Amino acid sequence: MTRKLITKLTILGICALLVSCSEKKAKYVIGVSQCSEDIWRNWQNSEMKMEANFHDDVELRFTTAFDDSKRQIQQIDELVDNGINLLIVAPNQLSSVTPAIDRAFDKGIPVIVFERKTDSPKYTAFVSADNYEMGRQMGEYVVSRLQGKGRVLEVYGLKGSSPAEERHNGFVDALKDTGVEIAATIHGDWTEMKAYEAVRNYQGDFASIDLVFAHNDRSAIGARKAFQERMKTSTLPLFCGIDGLPGENGGIRQVRDSLLDASYIYPTRGDQLLLLALDILKGRPYEKETMLTSAIVTPENAKVLMLESDEVMRQTQNLEKLQILASGYLQQLATQRTITYLAIILIALLLLTIVLFYLYYRSKVSAQHERVINNLWNLEVPEEVKSEIVKSEADGPAPQEGEVEESPEDEKEPLFLVHFKDVVEARLNDSDLSVDDLAAAMNLSRVQLYRKVKAISGSSPVELLRTARLNRGYQLLLTTGKNVSEVAYDVGFTAPSYFTKCFKDEFGVSPSDLQAK
Ligand code: FRU
Repeated sequence: MTRKLITKLTILGICALLVSCSEKKAKYVIGVSQCSEDIWRNWQNSEMKMEANFHDDVELRFTTAFDDSKRQIQQIDELVDNGINLLIVAPNQLSSVTPAIDRAFDKGIPVIVFERKTDSPKYTAFVSADNYEMGRQMGEYVVSRLQGKGRVLEVYGLKGSSPAEERHNGFVDALKDTGVEIAATIHGDWTEMKAYEAVRNYQGDFASIDLVFAHNDRSAIGARKAFQERMKTSTLPLFCGIDGLPGENGGIRQVRDSLLDASYIYPTRGDQLLLLALDILKGRPYEKETMLTSAIVTPENAKVLMLESDEVMRQTQNLEKLQILASGYLQQLATQRTITYLAIILIALLLLTIVLFYLYYRSKVSAQHERVINNLWNLEVPEEVKSEIVKSEADGPAPQEGEVEESPEDEKEPLFLVHFKDVVEARLNDSDLSVDDLAAAMNLSRVQLYRKVKAISGSSPVELLRTARLNRGYQLLLTTGKNVSEVAYDVGFTAPSYFTKCFKDEFGVSPSDLQAK
């Protein structure tokens, strides 16, 4: 009973501990479907992750389609099937990815489309910089840079993706009615490699090109490499791109280092996207369409922008360090909390065990008190013992000469027992009392006494005598003010130390523990 209770409590304790230690489950799962993987996307993803660190109810799941619309459709379907609360998506191409986004939206999942458009109205919010305006401003810059006259090679982004189309339209519009003409438009796919290959294969006159406008910085750098290869020693044209990222390989540094002549900052704002997602999920008011403002990077402002962006990066890195430190501390705290809970549970279990054992011991002792106080004799013989004894007696050795064998009825004679008890009790304090004395007092031989007593009680006369002495000692200790030695002598022990030993063996407690106080 006690053991069962302790087991139950232990299981309960462990369950409580496991629950308290189990990681807090994120409440909002946000799927982020990126069309590509590159420096711009990585930057944006890290901004989202950084912001997510401030919200312990957010889990981000990123996928990247590596510029493949089919793969992106699959990834969006998977995100939706695996259970997301909101989808943030940059569709690789305008129309091909739309059905997957529509499916998500139709299932009631809020959708934030960012930076690249779909051709469906099924989205919850849209966030982007104005790609048409970017292309237009870049066009105006090119016209003024070429002083109103020149030949431009355009390196297009991915066909069918909205930023490419809009940047192209803006650029073309800015060049209208000027002396700057587009010598050719070459199709890339936003990657440096594709731009490099496409430009290298350009069949026109490389030397006649005054400026290359690529739809992003990576493509501009790819085009530059192709020009370097094709033109060998001649002077390179100017190269302009879009993205203007901070950092080592970012467009701002490339303009400052004159690898590019201009770029346009295409804001990433991953943190803002995440905050918008949380506003939507938590039912707070939000803007359905957000246009991010931005600025052109030229040789004139590149140095200042570089200083500023370096500073932002430094602060970002500091913040990252702080977050790592804080999460380390939180981890430590969680471990400490777990250890504390464990210790509390163990102490509680220990205390409970002690209390239960104490109660058990108390009830055992009081039962013992009851028994010993009310009865000097333990003559309850189990039935099987009795029958075994009777059987062994029946098969036992023949009575010796001079001994009278008693009938089995006589052996169970109650009067015999009463008589025996009287004899023993009368001389309980006599340390010299021997079995021979008892036999004599009962008018029996030693063997006869042994057999009768054994048959009735299951114990030998010596054992009964000793039990009676100890039980009487128990009574005296409880009811008189006598000390252990006095009691030992009173009940016929010659050595108090031997009395103490027998007492402990019999009752499991020391006689001094029982002394009346
Ligand atoms: C990043 C990127 C940028 C470009 C944008 C267009 O994946 O290729 O370089 O400005 O996407 O959507």
